[in-house]
Amino acid sequence: MAVDIASLPGRIRHRFPVFEQRVYINSCSQGALSDSVRAAYAQYLDDWDEHGAPWEYWVGRLEAVRTAVASLVNADEDEIAVTTSVSAGVSALASGLRFDEGRDTVVVSDFEFPTIGQIWHAQERRGLRVVHVPAEANGTIQLERFADAIDERTALVATTHACFRNGLRLDVEGVARLAHERGALVLVDAYQTVGSLPIDVRVLGCDFLAAGVLKYLLGSAGLGFLYCRRELVETIEPTATGWFADRNIFEMDIHDYSPASTARRFEAGTPPVPSTYAAIAGIELMQEIGIAETEAHVRELNALLRDGLDELGATAVTPREPELSGALLCVRSTDVNALVGALEDQGIVTSCRDDNLRISAHCYNTAEDVQAVLDALAARRDLLA
Ligand SMILES: Cc1ncc(COP(=O)(O)O)c(C=O)c1O
Repeated sequence: MAVDIASLPGRIRHRFPVFEQRVYINSCSQGALSDSVRAAYAQYLDDWDEHGAPWEYWVGRLEAVRTAVASLVNADEDEIAVTTSVSAGVSALASGLRFDEGRDTVVVSDFEFPTIGQIWHAQERRGLRVVHVPAEANGTIQLERFADAIDERTALVATTHACFRNGLRLDVEGVARLAHERGALVLVDAYQTVGSLPIDVRVLGCDFLAAGVLKYLLGSAGLGFLYCRRELVETIEPTATGWFADRNIFEMDIHDYSPASTARRFEAGTPPVPSTYAAIAGIELMQEIGIAETEAHVRELNALLRDGLDELGATAVTPREPELSGALLCVRSTDVNALVGALEDQGIVTSCRDDNLRISAHCYNTAEDVQAVLDALAARRDLLA
């Protein structure tokens, strides 16, 4: 896609007031607040004030999130659970999986977010074996390492789509193919990619996909989702559950467990109503802006950033190849907290993990933002490794 680097932010940047104060280039942590998400929160308070307790409408908001998420990832609505976080969705999934019939192992990449590793290790109390797929010294994980780890004992493979620590994008389609050849299921954590590039669960070939709306989807905290492939839904009975997972929510029956026949069975209690307003506004805004266009725009910005980093002699730890990287570009530092602080002093918001500065551009960032980051890094070359 040919990209005019000024056109996308030129069209939409005014909708994100943070840019009046700062260079915000930290969407891997959280998206910038837009006028429409702010208005959505105000609408929630107005609805509460005006109607008292409009629960029918609020449950309708939950369903609207389900519809929006389904269209976003090319799933059916009955394959989507709307949860309060990735952790909640994946915990419900883990609680319902059975680790018998010879498949007692979950394979976990070493680039997972903590919550994914912790949830699977928690299942060791239930007899699960966890096997890690180690990272290479160069900060990647080759498909062969997954091939070494997946075998006839593997029940499920958990892989992130892009690593929150170094920006590496993994070949999840390849992992899914491998896992399925060997009879295992696949869970993808797409939190670091959803909203920054088009996601299609059918193309990825995964069985489960978890993410949330806080980052590149421009929503806010408190709302995640879990996709579960249709044929699997009724084979999994979550024991981490609640009344919003029940076949008939308003039956109020305390005498049995009868989970919904759809992926709603992975939900739990009272939904995060304010976050549903924000999620709908954020997803709609991202779809209006264009996710494919955003991906192409950020690729251009990151090319500029890489050129500047090369000139500074800085080390980009995120691979250069387009298929191995996404929006997040990580730079090695000798004292990363000091570097984040130095950028903050220049009004530039970034973040860090390990020894890596995380620079994560999105639709609203400009070539001038990238130059501001490079200028600030040039002034603190002593902190670059
Ligand atoms: C890859 C990834 N997974 C999961 C999370 C968060 O999960 P949860 O919604 O459970 O807080 C994050 C970021 O916060 C993330 O970067």
